[in-house]
Amino acid sequence: MPAVRDSWGSRLAIIMAVAGSAIGLGNFLRFPAKAVANGGGAFMIPYLVSLLLLGLPLMWIEWTLGRYGGGFEHGTAPGIFHSLVRKNRFIKYFGVIGIFGPLVIFIYYTFIESWTLAYSFFALSGHYAALADQASMQSFLRGFQGLERNTFFQSLGWAYVFFSITFLLNIGVLFYGIRGGIARLCNWAMPALFICALILLIRVVMLGAPMAAHPDWNILNGFGFLWNPDFSALTKAKVWLEAAGQIFFTLSVGIGVILTYASYLSKGDDVVLSGLSAASTNEIAEVILGGSIIIPAAFVFFGPTDMQAIAESGTFNLGFVTMPLVLNHLPWAAFFGFCWFFLLFLAGITSSVSLAQPCVAFMEDEFDINRQKAVAIFSVVAFVLCQPAVFFLGQGVVDELDFWGGTVFLVVFATIETVMFAWVFGIEKAWDEIHQGAALRIPRFYKWVIKYVTPLFLFFILGMWLWQEWIPVIFMKHVSAASRPYVLCTRIGLALIFIILAVLVKLAWRRKRRLREEPL
Ligand code: ALA
Repeated sequence: MPAVRDSWGSRLAIIMAVAGSAIGLGNFLRFPAKAVANGGGAFMIPYLVSLLLLGLPLMWIEWTLGRYGGGFEHGTAPGIFHSLVRKNRFIKYFGVIGIFGPLVIFIYYTFIESWTLAYSFFALSGHYAALADQASMQSFLRGFQGLERNTFFQSLGWAYVFFSITFLLNIGVLFYGIRGGIARLCNWAMPALFICALILLIRVVMLGAPMAAHPDWNILNGFGFLWNPDFSALTKAKVWLEAAGQIFFTLSVGIGVILTYASYLSKGDDVVLSGLSAASTNEIAEVILGGSIIIPAAFVFFGPTDMQAIAESGTFNLGFVTMPLVLNHLPWAAFFGFCWFFLLFLAGITSSVSLAQPCVAFMEDEFDINRQKAVAIFSVVAFVLCQPAVFFLGQGVVDELDFWGGTVFLVVFATIETVMFAWVFGIEKAWDEIHQGAALRIPRFYKWVIKYVTPLFLFFILGMWLWQEWIPVIFMKHVSAASRPYVLCTRIGLALIFIILAVLVKLAWRRKRRLREEPL
């Protein structure tokens, strides 16, 4: 007899949990790095257009699909797609991406999240307090990540300890389920995250212009870097692709996690206002907080040219090198450093548990495995899968996982979901379904956006990507010769994970058929 499905307990709990899933390392590390590397003001126009034409519609689509599938006791994409079109036996296999994507992101995301926990500790313990220049802070980071042995770190030991702690904390939260674990975590972690961010924001705004030699490197110009629009970049496809990619990643749409979270809603629960609230909370955290801490702080200390060079040299450099360096120049460096890294940790853990939940829900819903057992199976499998990311970071394994799991498959899955919702399920039914129990009506032109604009925009992004990147990606043109075997193995591993998940979907449905045929 299958157990009764878990639930959120209250409307606020699911809004907080979806906001928790959305607000993550993407808001505070990825967004500033992408915005700066793509010219600040030049990035914001495609970013806001993508938010309105892709982000919001996909938010509503996923909330609605999730709630719909939950009504049939399905919390992951294969079952949800199957409940949309029962006659088609193949449609559920499209849903495999909705379990594969979050699992792949989880594998490397947890490792990066563990760095933030380690740095929270290092901030308080004063491990990096004496470092005053980019080169030594960079060396500290590389030593910690195991990319080099240096005076700071002789092995990957510290990183592995913090990775294990972070992993166990995630498993602990999952073990207590939706209401008892995830909702409880988000209940205190989200307010704590906003408090840390506000403390840092106020400190950054009070920075003034610390470099006497460069009076124009001031806080106002720091904000201007992001907010002065630059229309000339609108013709650059790369800026559009990166902006759209950031919208997917930051809102956690196109991954599969919101489907799962929304599947624990009931039929009459509102999704329009709740989806909008979660998306708005994420955007406040990203644009107002994420954009107002690192970017102006780096601007006043390093100026626009160097800041751009740092951002282009790696997504993590602004967060793990520049930011602690800036804070080291201020009184109470340990406290502000802790606020920064602990804020990242809270953002990270509320997202990583959401990335794990689809796998757990798949086992619970489709194989009737109880939660504790499902979490135990997940923890063993995921721990093993995380090892290449931990040990072969320098060989490009994390970048490769991020490329497929955190970029390409997001767009592919979002395209499938939108077509399935607006065309296969049908926009009239879909529109009615969105508004079941809705506390607010979506403006009518969004019906047209969901049916035509969002899928066309997605096809355009996929087409552009295929046209510009297909050949170099397949032949690993951007990968060094030494890293190619590792990248190739990662690809083979990913293909195997995908096949195994597809087989599991097949077995789950075969089992269900058998159970239905058996007399009670
Ligand atoms: N949405 C999550 C983030 O921004 C994955 O980090």
